[in-house]
Amino acid sequence: MRISFQHPSVPLHGAVVVGVWQGRRPTEAFAALDPHGRLKKTLKRLGFDGEEEETELFLAPAPPLTALVVAGLGKPRKLDTIRLRRIGGCILEELDDSRAVAATVALDLPPAQAAELAYGLCLKAYRPLRKYRTKLDPDDEDDVVPVLESVVVTTPDPEAAAALYAAREQVAQGVFLARDLTDEPGNVLGPEEFAQRARLLEALGVEVTVLDETALAEAGLNLLAAVGMGSARPPRLVLLRWRGAMGKPLVLVGKGITFDTGGISIKFDDDEMDAMKGDMGGAAAVIGALRAVAGRKAKAHVCGVLALAENMPSGRAQRPGDVVKSYSGLTVEVIDTDAEGRLVLADALAWAAATLDPKTMIDIATLTGSVEEVLGDPYAGLYANDDKLAKRLLKLSKAEADPLWRLPLTESCDEDIKSDIADVKNCAWGEVPDNDDAARFLSRFVPDGIAWAHIDMAGKEWADEDDPLAPEAASGFGVRLFDALAGGS
Ligand code: BES
Ligand code: MN
Ligand code: ZN
Repeated sequence: MRISFQHPSVPLHGAVVVGVWQGRRPTEAFAALDPHGRLKKTLKRLGFDGEEEETELFLAPAPPLTALVVAGLGKPRKLDTIRLRRIGGCILEELDDSRAVAATVALDLPPAQAAELAYGLCLKAYRPLRKYRTKLDPDDEDDVVPVLESVVVTTPDPEAAAALYAAREQVAQGVFLARDLTDEPGNVLGPEEFAQRARLLEALGVEVTVLDETALAEAGLNLLAAVGMGSARPPRLVLLRWRGAMGKPLVLVGKGITFDTGGISIKFDDDEMDAMKGDMGGAAAVIGALRAVAGRKAKAHVCGVLALAENMPSGRAQRPGDVVKSYSGLTVEVIDTDAEGRLVLADALAWAAATLDPKTMIDIATLTGSVEEVLGDPYAGLYANDDKLAKRLLKLSKAEADPLWRLPLTESCDEDIKSDIADVKNCAWGEVPDNDDAARFLSRFVPDGIAWAHIDMAGKEWADEDDPLAPEAASGFGVRLFDALAGGS
């Protein structure tokens, strides 16, 4: 979908969006369209007050308008960045319903606000993968193909808005890359295929290094190798680097299990195993963030590390009870092969710390089912060994609508994850929730002195239907957060 900006003086026609402040107070364009107050009366009858994210669609209201969307804007003072984006997302939904091909959003907002609203339109306009469908059912609502091609957003300074939006659009491309990859089925996207997708970022100036199974063995990334060895498709470690500034890098590490069967500790049927094609949502967030910072040419030094493997049961798979020497030197007893994410991340974190000299290191993973039970919607779990980093992430997570809730790195977990035979074991089934054990397990592989955070985004890789910034599909969770953290605009 194309988004452009225009001066408010252009005459309105076709599909048009106008705004109403809370209490049904008209904006200028609304008032111009409704000189006799008839529309205002209709809104009153409908109980439409103008609260933010309230929208109403009128079809064929009067020529030359073919469709009219009235968008509630809430209270003027509360119209911040995130609210503007969400309103944009709500408007997009109505425009899709209107079946308009082109539309004008006549809110006449200042350029920075217009750009944020356009960003919301763009994020919601993402179209989930349809390439595997050969036939569509015209009677099925979910099969209706969106027809909206272009939206013009009015603002008194179109050039300024366009310049601001251009950077946002690059971040949206990063979010869309993460969504596309998350949605890809496991048979199509294995570790090597994911690495190939990472190589495509070279065109944007990202340095890409891929460690194959031989290189993994040579480097001693044995936990990653162990998780991958049950699969016919060997594991990979990918390093992405965007050098937009000097100095130590921000290092992002993503869990990239392209499919998680659980391995020999195989998952049950009722675990909705098909959703485990999205068990690379963390790696998707990381590659998406690198796509974003490279696309907008951020003045920042950012590294992405993707720990890619397929967790399968087979005659070559690792067994419960196996002991593996990790990259860091710590030995790990694998109690449950379904707790594989923390294994691949442990090696990736230790490797990144040893080879990349991170300023800050953050890992992100669809790590534990228990974090969903502990937090529910809409938060992902945040753990950190550094209060300043945690604070910054919490603030940005709010601003970017990738919500986080901080949880403690509980010291008593060390007792839980003690192993009789090795230095540490990968899960405990103890009193504390598994997400806490997992976080504490990871902390053992992060050297002292590095500011580190861990994000457990299990469940957040899929968006709900009522998410104003994403259609019901993969979410691209984490991309906006990491892009904002990288900064450098
Ligand atoms: N990939 C799963 C976690 C997950 C669950 C992600 C639901 C998204 C939605 C992870 O590898 C896993 O299987 N975790 C186990 C850990 C257990 C065996 C200690 C779990 O949560 O059951
Ligand atoms: Mn698992
Ligand atoms: Zn997993």
